[in-house]
Amino acid sequence: SDPDLVDRARAARAALGDRAFVLGHHYQRDEVIDFADVTGDSFKLAREAAARPEAEFILFCGVHFMAESADILTSDAQQVVLPDLAAGCSMADMAAIHQVEDAWDVLLDAGVAEDTVPVTYMNSSAAIKAFTGRHGGTVCTSSNAHVALRWAFDRVGGVEGSGKVLFMPDQHLGRNTAVRQLGLSLDDCVVFDPRKPGGGLTAQELRDARMILWRGHCSVHGRFTERNVVEARAAVPGINVIVHPECRHEVVAAADQVGSTEHIIKALDAAEPGSAWAIGTELNLVRRLANAHPDKQVHYLDSTVCFCSTMNRIDLPHLVWAMESLVAGRVVNRIVVDPDDARWARAALDQMLALPG
Ligand code: 13P
Ligand code: SF4
Repeated sequence: SDPDLVDRARAARAALGDRAFVLGHHYQRDEVIDFADVTGDSFKLAREAAARPEAEFILFCGVHFMAESADILTSDAQQVVLPDLAAGCSMADMAAIHQVEDAWDVLLDAGVAEDTVPVTYMNSSAAIKAFTGRHGGTVCTSSNAHVALRWAFDRVGGVEGSGKVLFMPDQHLGRNTAVRQLGLSLDDCVVFDPRKPGGGLTAQELRDARMILWRGHCSVHGRFTERNVVEARAAVPGINVIVHPECRHEVVAAADQVGSTEHIIKALDAAEPGSAWAIGTELNLVRRLANAHPDKQVHYLDSTVCFCSTMNRIDLPHLVWAMESLVAGRVVNRIVVDPDDARWARAALDQMLALPG
């Protein structure tokens, strides 16, 4: 990056001192990660934000839903700043609160709502987290989805019973977790399409389902295919394939390991020198892992899949602008969640933070 900009970033960071805390998601650019006080997956970053009551400003280098969650988990006196407001998440945008409320009405009409617990992935708006809190559900991330699902099923008679989970908005994380970790079958899962009347499902299909999966997905992880896994194994015999659980079910089923960004990093740290890895997640992280492990062969699972474009919107110029503005006494790009939503979203986030292990 531009040396002048790096100098300005260092000067602004030093001027802010302990008044600011900089969080960086693992998909951020190297030039941004260099200035992060802590890096993490979305679960770790939510906990870190909640654990910094002394910081006046939380500079969130990640995407909008993560900054909203940080605002919810911090005190009113603390201010959360997202260096570029256009850093959204296309998956989170696939579920709008009015669609979720309409979907709940469909479940009520089918007579299944009272037997259904909503679970929302962190990658959702604060309004949807609030809906989840109001209906006694929980938030989850890719590192605790199995624990969250067990907890949710336990509220409606257990995994062996007939209760249901409405899982939003990532159908793949919901399906992968239910099938791989809870022992449900693919037939137990139905996809609720918010663009179709009744979600595109009959009342009987809803009654028979155990996992009602929102029709949403990640545009980055959705591009990995089972063929990529087959080709990686053919190209490098003995290669370990590790993918994020936002990948499609066939991809996850064909992989050796599945986990959150933090899990992927730990797996590479623990790997034997000389071992070969094909990684199915966002490119900034895979590149960093390749640089960090010159003694291992680190491959990208599909060379045509690339960066998360919205994560990449946070770059050094935006971070410098945000920090220099704070130094000058101007709070820019502050993320503030509506207080009523924040109260109920906090209930769902606190529920997640209270889940075992
Ligand atoms: P992690 O919780 O694994 O960091 O994932 C967040 C995300 O947006 C993945 O696409
Ligand atoms: Fe959203 Fe996918 Fe980007 Fe993660 S990688 S922030 S789920 S679009």
